[in-house]
Amino acid sequence: MSKMDDKLEILRAKKAEAKQGGGAERIEKQHAKGKLTARERIHFLLDEGSFEELDMLKKHRATDFGLDKKRPLGDGVVTGYGTINNRPVYVYSQDFTVFGGSLSKAHAEKICKIMDLAMKNGAPVIGLNDSGGARIQEGVESLGGYADIFYRNTLASGVIPQISAILGPCAGGAVYSPAITDFVFMVENSSYMFVTGPNVVKTVTHEEVSAQELGGAFTHASKSGVTHFTCENEVVCLQHIRELLGYIPQNCEDGAPLLPYDEKEDETRPALLEVLSDNPSQPYDMHEVIREIADEDSFLEVHKEYAQNMIVGFARVGGRSIGIVANQPFFLAGVLDIESSRKAARFIRFCDAFNVPLLTLVDVPGFLPGTDQEWGGIISNGAKLLYAFSEATVPKITVITRKAYGGAYDVMNSKHIGADFNFAWPTAEIAVMGPKGAAEIIFRNEIASAEDPEAKLQEKVDEYTEKFAHPYRAAALGYIDEVIEPQNTRIKVMKAFKMLEQKVDNLPKKKHGNIPL
Ligand code: HXC
Repeated sequence: MSKMDDKLEILRAKKAEAKQGGGAERIEKQHAKGKLTARERIHFLLDEGSFEELDMLKKHRATDFGLDKKRPLGDGVVTGYGTINNRPVYVYSQDFTVFGGSLSKAHAEKICKIMDLAMKNGAPVIGLNDSGGARIQEGVESLGGYADIFYRNTLASGVIPQISAILGPCAGGAVYSPAITDFVFMVENSSYMFVTGPNVVKTVTHEEVSAQELGGAFTHASKSGVTHFTCENEVVCLQHIRELLGYIPQNCEDGAPLLPYDEKEDETRPALLEVLSDNPSQPYDMHEVIREIADEDSFLEVHKEYAQNMIVGFARVGGRSIGIVANQPFFLAGVLDIESSRKAARFIRFCDAFNVPLLTLVDVPGFLPGTDQEWGGIISNGAKLLYAFSEATVPKITVITRKAYGGAYDVMNSKHIGADFNFAWPTAEIAVMGPKGAAEIIFRNEIASAEDPEAKLQEKVDEYTEKFAHPYRAAALGYIDEVIEPQNTRIKVMKAFKMLEQKVDNLPKKKHGNIPL
């Protein structure tokens, strides 16, 4: 054997050892929990054969508690780069079979290295998290490692898309890296996230709660909103990440993806004429409207289980990626409340940061009344939505299908806060409040003193309805650019986004705004 052969043998043996992670037994344990290994996950995430690994031979440098005798190659995280649908991405994947995927200083350095590369090269970072948290034997060095990552997450925010998948434990301060990233995915039953676990909760508040109840995928999808997507298993989760990336650009200087699209001879959608019933209080599913405006099967809903009175998600219209923000009359009549305002505001800010144009569909009766809402801060939370729409400089189009009442009219991407094109269906009702509420206030005395107050109220409701519950006052003032026939909505929206392709709009120079957080 030549010297080169010897050297190659050593190299190959080292790489083979690194690929073993924590060894066959621990890999078996991982599989038994329904979980994939770090490398298997990368395989399902990236384009076949595209992964290039970095720091495969990196080791930790700790010496306490016998760690000097246990230095596995790679140190519990697989890092590198590859492609998703031929576009570059950087990825790290924690290996639970090595020290429970716990984070040492060396492990953190590997993650930071690929984050730095992703920033310099303008490509998304995807973190696959499966970790017991800070490497307990390392102490503060490990905490420093976490903070190094958090700091980079913050610097990268708005520069490159950052995506986190939670595929196992994610506890303590470790949750704050995913929390800063743009989108969080969780897998049902096998993942959980919490700042303090069930045991600490029991000691401090005497509540008995399981890990899943406290911080499983369902909890974070529906109660806290921490996760944007829940998936039934890991393979589905990794495929969803691929799908999401198809809608978003590589970095903040890149445009939103535009796929080739052959315009059909007839792009009208007559089904839109059937969505609304004659009764203005009858709920309907705004998904039906979205389906008719978007290209076939192109809607990817974000935060599906959270604040369902608001729908947000990515779609394509004529091949162009857009973000959709829509009131959902099917749920709480589409009212604006704390959660729905926060949900939409964060989505709008993502779209604006990454040049994804916005389509807003409006059918909103107003803000939700009540002590819960007022004491919970509907004022500052509603303001987040107003602020997010106002500061967004991407192309912004609004379609009012039915109700646009009160402050909610202003907030939902009205002309006044910078929307480029505002359309309304002839069914739109744009006024300070609904006819009944309005009549009860402005004609209170007249109604009270009437011989038949019921009949008087109805008469006044009809009068108000005729005067205000339509789009023509707003159109006469130029607040609505065009009242359109519903079946033409897709065509109008497609044309308008095309016209806005080269839009340039800048905010006043500032360090950064002060959104009411
Ligand atoms: C070092 C760890 C570890 C950790 C797990 N391991 N967590 N090693 N540091 N944090 C090791 C275990 O010793 C074990 O090693 C292997 O990983 C698998 O762990 P198991 O306990 O056998 O697995 P499982 O039963 O699935 O339980 C998983 C777990 C549990 C729930 C995550 O391991 C656990 O509670 N770990 C400690 C969690 C924790 O308190 N972390 C610190 C949180 S504070 P062997 O050799 O036996 O295979 C924190 C702060 C971050 O993270 C702050 C950032 C600012």
